[in-house]
Amino acid sequence: MGLSNLSLRALGLAVLSGGAAMLFLSMATAVPAQEQEPIEYVGDDLCAECHVEQAGKLQGTVHADMLEFLADEPAGIGSCEACHGPGMLHAEMAGSEDPGFRDAFVTTPDPDGCVGCHLEVRGQFSLPERHAVLQGFMECSDCHDPHGSFNGGLRVEAQNATCTQCHTDKEGPWVFPHASREVEGCTVCHQPHGSVNPHMLPFREVALTCLSCHPGQPPFHNQPEFAECLSCHVQIHGSNLDKHFLQ
Ligand code: HEC
Ligand code: HEC
Ligand code: HEC
Ligand code: HEC
Ligand code: HEC
Ligand code: HEC
Ligand code: HEC
Ligand code: HEC
Repeated sequence: MGLSNLSLRALGLAVLSGGAAMLFLSMATAVPAQEQEPIEYVGDDLCAECHVEQAGKLQGTVHADMLEFLADEPAGIGSCEACHGPGMLHAEMAGSEDPGFRDAFVTTPDPDGCVGCHLEVRGQFSLPERHAVLQGFMECSDCHDPHGSFNGGLRVEAQNATCTQCHTDKEGPWVFPHASREVEGCTVCHQPHGSVNPHMLPFREVALTCLSCHPGQPPFHNQPEFAECLSCHVQIHGSNLDKHFLQ
């Protein structure tokens, strides 16, 4: 999260707990029968008794030990509840098989809960070119498994497969794949949280993205008509016909 980690988190948590309090109020109005019920935290151990799978995946991940980031929250809050909100009501109702237990949470973890802590990421998704997460068409968990995964960065799949589950036309295989894509993955050229540049590229000019890896392009390219790389290299992700991606 960069240099101002601590202050960002403190601010994020203030937003998070503010959001939880607001949702708590709206829920108390929506479900009058439960007005008297205390909405309280129970801690991870109780959640884990019923949710073995999620508890197991969470172990050892960056989200497993969020207590130290939750100094302002009431005692007893666990990592599960940092995202899902206070769970005592849910746990009690689930134990008694009260059918309302599914709706007994007071927070929507994704994306509201996520960006409550990850303020920087909220900023990225507010840039002009981005996936429509804050608009509700996608979720953080389309790309990340919040409970944990074996792929770097909590990705749902190994590098490119996280992206090609939706962008199937970029999956290949090609006779002539663009090697950078094979080795370093989509994110070497695209910033999936958002960017000010077209197609979420790292630079405003496409050529600057290309030249960052191809500084010594062929000598005959040293002419103005070669400035628009994609006007000739049209199959930039890979081609079955031409090793220079010209068709
Ligand atoms: C007494 C057992 C029990 C306890 C304790 C319990 N749950 Fe659950 N929970 C359930 C059951 C049963 C379901 C429904 C599971 C299903 O449909 O597969 C459920 C569903 C959920 C869901 C999905 C809700 C939905 O909208 O479908 C979440 C999130 C959840 N629990 C989180 C928690 C957290 C966090 C805790 C600890 C604060 C917790 N649970 C404690 C039994 C429990
Ligand atoms: C970093 C935030 C985060 C943490 C920490 C977290 N969850 Fe979740 N959980 C989510 C999100 C987001 C979803 C919805 C996932 C989806 O839509 O695919 C979810 C879904 C669930 C579900 C529904 C079934 C499923 O897997 O989709 C259960 C049950 C659950 N969580 C239990 C827990 C328990 C128990 C813990 C603690 C051991 C926990 N969660 C910790 C964010 C979190
Ligand atoms: C209570 C605060 C909190 C909440 C809520 C939260 N996170 Fe995090 N998350 C953290 C912290 C702390 C880290 C540690 C690394 C860091 O500072 O980036 C982290 C790291 C991550 C990472 C980087 C993992 C890595 O291996 O580098 C991802 C991805 C992530 N969170 C996604 C999510 C998603 C998705 C949600 C919502 C479902 C969520 N987070 C909710 C606090 C939170
Ligand atoms: C379109 C896919 C996608 C979506 C949607 C997405 N992310 Fe990511 N995110 C990534 C990728 C890819 C990385 C880089 C992972 C790596 O290799 O470390 C990443 C990295 C991160 C990191 C690590 C720090 C950083 O910025 O590199 C955090 C934290 C994070 N994401 C949080 C979130 C949150 C919160 C949301 C929802 C608001 C979200 N992400 C939605 C793809 C996505
Ligand atoms: C859950 C489906 C889904 C996943 C996963 C996904 N995307 Fe997307 N992506 C979309 C949709 C839908 C759009 C359409 C644009 C919009 O949201 O306005 C899009 C748009 C884009 C664009 C911009 C297209 C344009 O015309 O400018 C790029 C680049 C992109 N995605 C790259 C990625 C990368 C890289 C990843 C993996 C880190 C990824 N996507 C993961 C669904 C997805
Ligand atoms: C070497 C850099 C590079 C890599 C690696 C790369 N892309 Fe692209 N991508 C581009 C460029 C440049 C454009 C703009 C193309 C245009 O304007 O015709 C683009 C456009 C896109 C678009 C929008 C236009 C379209 O063709 O649909 C999507 C979606 C996309 N890329 C997804 C991906 C995915 C998914 C991956 C990983 C499998 C990936 N890209 C890897 C450079 C790259
Ligand atoms: C992240 C680094 C990276 C970026 C960015 C990148 N490339 Fe590449 N590109 C490579 C690598 C690595 C190869 C394989 C080079 C080789 O085999 O000699 C390659 C191969 C090529 C080839 C085929 C060359 C050959 O001899 O097979 C062309 C043409 C090409 N790139 C054009 C582009 C264009 C145009 C862009 C911008 C849209 C671009 N590249 C962006 C790394 C990159
Ligand atoms: C007017 C069409 C055109 C434009 C515009 C163009 N190229 Fe090319 N490029 C070609 C052709 C044709 C070749 C194949 C040359 C050959 O046969 O050796 C090529 C080859 C390449 C190669 C492979 C060189 C090698 O040694 O094999 C790279 C890398 C490359 N171009 C990068 C770029 C970049 C970066 C840009 C934008 C700054 C760009 N090209 C713009 C036509 C173009």
